[in-house]
Amino acid sequence: MEQATERKKVVFSAIQPSGTVTLGNYLGALKNWSAMQDEYNCIFALADLHTITVRQEPAQFRKNIYEAYATLLACGIDVEKSLFFVQSHVNTHAQLAWVLNCYTQFGELSRMTQFKDKSAKHADNVNAGLFTYPTLMAADILLYQADLVPVGADQKQHLEITRNIAERFNGLYGNVFRVPEPYIAKSGARVMSLQDPTKKMSKSDENVNGFITLNDAPEVIMKKFKRAVTDSDACVKYGEGKDGINNLMSIYSTITGKTFEQIELEFEGKGYGDFKTAVGEAVVEELRPIKERFDQYIKDKAYMQECWTKSAETAQRFSQRTLDKAMKKIGYVLK
Ligand code: TRP
Repeated sequence: MEQATERKKVVFSAIQPSGTVTLGNYLGALKNWSAMQDEYNCIFALADLHTITVRQEPAQFRKNIYEAYATLLACGIDVEKSLFFVQSHVNTHAQLAWVLNCYTQFGELSRMTQFKDKSAKHADNVNAGLFTYPTLMAADILLYQADLVPVGADQKQHLEITRNIAERFNGLYGNVFRVPEPYIAKSGARVMSLQDPTKKMSKSDENVNGFITLNDAPEVIMKKFKRAVTDSDACVKYGEGKDGINNLMSIYSTITGKTFEQIELEFEGKGYGDFKTAVGEAVVEELRPIKERFDQYIKDKAYMQECWTKSAETAQRFSQRTLDKAMKKIGYVLK
């Protein structure tokens, strides 16, 4: 009885439509998002407003938006269970972001490590949007009164500032925003580069053998795993100084659900070659149906438009309530 009346917690997360999706994005985030959809009230977005903080080529950007949407559907995001919309289709995000800008200090935004990194990387385009990126992210989250936000390590500081902004606003005006908590997935891997397993797997790695994309052909995936950097131990065992093997074990474990002990047992007396083949095959089989579904969705733009329109309508209605509440508290007169 009690369970039936208990409110499902709200989860919000978003990803930028910036081209290639890697095995790291999939195992670290998307696979978990898809698994959370029954237990939580999930709201997912393509953060396309965030994307223009770095200059985009229009035709490529448009293509990336469709591809990212199709990829997430293919990874199991289900619009019958969750909301899955495009951020720029719901105008409350930019509106609340403006408001929150006026409740966020120059000093606190200046301390964001992502801002410092990105301004160094794009020194010719240190625009104001890059600086206020975290207030837009705060708006995304706070509009939906989210309880939980699954984020990777690189976005933790942005969630922290979101909490600070929410607490500051609530301190001035009463309870307007729910203060969100980070969600740490029970399973899921921090996938490292196959070529330098001390670094996170990234699509911007100049060595393409360092990362796997969801579009890589099976033979390319197998080849990249066979070339993966390991150590000279020749013993499939999790341990210190074995970053390469640890990474492969963690990938294999996330996909098969096997524990590290089970994996060690499975490959006892076998060499790294056998192990790499097994990991490669597991990844190929995991990605095969995703790729097949992607190929279907990407051909059907009308279907994607139908999905995101339906989700955006619900998101608009819901988020408008929070925005109105915040505006009224500030003293605005609503129309
Ligand atoms: N900034 C996030 C990223 O680049 C994407 C993002 C935008 C996000 N808004 C969000 C993530 C809100 C979590 C919650 O990965």
